Amino acid sequence: MVRALKEKLSFIPNDLVSLKDYEKYAKEMMDSDSLAYICSGAEDEITYKRNEEAFKNIFLETATLEDLKGANTKIELFGQEYETPIFVAPVAYQKLVDVSGEVSTVLGANAMNISMCVSSFSSSTLEEISSYATSPLWFQLYIQPDMNTNLKLIKKAENLGFKALVITIDAPISGIRNTEQRAGFCLPNGISAVNIKNPIQTNTNFENVFDVVSSLPTWKDIEFIKQNTKLPVILKGITSASYAKKAIELRIDGIIVSNHGGRTIDTLPSTIELLPKIAKAVENKIPILLDGGIRRGSDIVKAITLGASAVMIGRPIMYGLATAGALGVAHTLKILKEELEVSMIFTGCKNIETIKALNLG
Ligand code: FNR
Ligand code: LAC
Repeated sequence: MVRALKEKLSFIPNDLVSLKDYEKYAKEMMDSDSLAYICSGAEDEITYKRNEEAFKNIFLETATLEDLKGANTKIELFGQEYETPIFVAPVAYQKLVDVSGEVSTVLGANAMNISMCVSSFSSSTLEEISSYATSPLWFQLYIQPDMNTNLKLIKKAENLGFKALVITIDAPISGIRNTEQRAGFCLPNGISAVNIKNPIQTNTNFENVFDVVSSLPTWKDIEFIKQNTKLPVILKGITSASYAKKAIELRIDGIIVSNHGGRTIDTLPSTIELLPKIAKAVENKIPILLDGGIRRGSDIVKAITLGASAVMIGRPIMYGLATAGALGVAHTLKILKEELEVSMIFTGCKNIETIKALNLG
């Protein structure tokens, strides 16, 4: 049976002005499967909620008489220039909310010159997504037990022109998501991870939980992959200073401070709370990205001041996609970029570098 998605908005109504407005609209448009999958976190959803809440306890300071001529948001990461420090986070199965899924997302991101990180579990092929992209793409890998599968996927991403390899290390298995369980969530027919057959992370048919452990990736696999790709390797899902240091020891190119949007193990601290101690351990040796709970441009300023070079946005992109397809993704990113620029004017920052030296209130 083909699922009928609600018809998307083809214009932007006056009351859609913030990412939280999009969330409200999207929740009206989404069916029970996509609601259960996207608007949920692990167990009691403490980390999921805290990611957003924690930004509200950090305050800014103004500086409004600075010379801001030539203001811009450009950054350079891994030898590549980007228009803004905003990236689209890897989110699986985007066809849950839009018939064209990741293709619509990349079209929306193109409109804002913003780069997307494509999930291992994308519901459109890497070939298709990359054929539409006009900004550099990154590929997110979930390491599979058969190393040949990983190497083939990485090679494919390299050949298609992807600019970075993001290895997600924090979800070797799926978290316990009671909201999904209560809703009886399962992927509808016709939506699957089209780039990988039977990924280990989605296989829950084990008799005992521990039956899976012998197939899970370790630091050895990270080292091996690092030696076998020419792409910069970024580890996503760092929540401790010790793992950040280990990544540097292994000559990893960058890390993403992330708790997977609160979807893996509950009661991890929020990412913005974790960032200062991880930044201290990294000592500017490699770039740090951060995701989790970013809903305002001022949140991006806070993340950069506390040690991030850039941020990734997850659920809000899905809310834009569910509400108005590619248009909604582009508008969501436009709102966020404009909020960042307005915040920079109020805080006296003419570029991203200056944000790093801000005092927080
Ligand atoms: C994710 N995330 C994720 N991460 C990843 O590395 N690979 C993936 O396939 C997915 N899939 C995925 C699906 C859904 C529905 C969500 C909500 C999240 C995690 C994602 O990249 C990011 O870390 C969080 O979404 C960031 O938090 P916010 O922006 O959603 O608050
Ligand atoms: C998730 C996996 C796919 O968070 O990363 O659903």
